[in-house]
Amino acid sequence: MVTAIKERTTVEVTVQSKSEFQPENILTVNNLEVFYGEKRAVNGISMIVEKNAVTALIGPSGCGKSTFLRSINRMNDLIPGASAKGEIVYEGLNILSDDINVVALRKEIGMVFQKPNPFPKSIYENITHALKFAGIKKKSLLDEIVEESLKKAALWDEVKDRLDKSAYSLSGGQQQRLCIARTIAMKPTVILLDEPSSALDPISNAKIEDLIVKLKKDYSIMIVTHNMQQASRVSDKTAFFLSGDLIEYDHTEKIFTNPSVKKTEEYISGRFG
Ligand SMILES: Nc1ncnc2c1ncn2[C@@H]1O[C@H](COP(=O)(O)OP(=O)(O)OP(=O)(O)O)[C@@H](O)[C@H]1O
Ligand SMILES: [Mg+2]
Repeated sequence: MVTAIKERTTVEVTVQSKSEFQPENILTVNNLEVFYGEKRAVNGISMIVEKNAVTALIGPSGCGKSTFLRSINRMNDLIPGASAKGEIVYEGLNILSDDINVVALRKEIGMVFQKPNPFPKSIYENITHALKFAGIKKKSLLDEIVEESLKKAALWDEVKDRLDKSAYSLSGGQQQRLCIARTIAMKPTVILLDEPSSALDPISNAKIEDLIVKLKKDYSIMIVTHNMQQASRVSDKTAFFLSGDLIEYDHTEKIFTNPSVKKTEEYISGRFG
């Protein structure tokens, strides 16, 4: 996707032969430190996030998962006193640089929170609000994006006959899928999910999990979860955080069947956290 994140003055073309082909990466985090005032909440972590994969972030309360996730689209900037050092490289740019257009960045790296937070508007307007703000006025195009986003968020069939009804008339699970549709409408490349189904009933949770697995075809997904079964069901890679450190990061199956670090094993088997 061509981005307006930063003016690009040079265009680099990389030709890669088939034998050199590697699974593509979407983000490279180098020595990321995040502070609240003087207090360091993320202690210089490095990791590579794969494209079109689901990456789960697990670890006990307060270990820095949300702080890390919010740093990836600069949402953490909105917290007074918060600051970050190091690099998060996305499309060749360090998105922590001062000259990054954070509004454009947050369209490409969208975020969905624990508690569904639709606007107090109709289902249709929840999707079109930001699009109109971005200058899209044509009704037929807006209709098309609304339908496409709701279909991708597996909500279309449930709401297609009531698009003018308030988003608050939806169930919690439907509201969360609407928030995912709202993010999808901005045509992101990365979707960050912070405990997206922990406030939902088991059936809504299962629908969100099915949706996450489907979405990775088109997006790179990072999900924070306290639910070990959820991490093992939906993710390809799992990162285990503890006290601001990245303790272990590997294929999900490896983490859950044969972790390399004792602390990981103790956490996933429920011995602490
Ligand atoms: N707005 C804030 N102001 C100051 N300190 C904060 C703020 N948000 C988080 N912290 C601190 O940063 C550390 C990491 O918190 P964070 O919310 O990232 O953890 P978490 O792993 O997401 O926890 P949980 O699983 O409970 O959501 C904690 O010590 C927390 O107290
Ligand atoms: Mg959190």
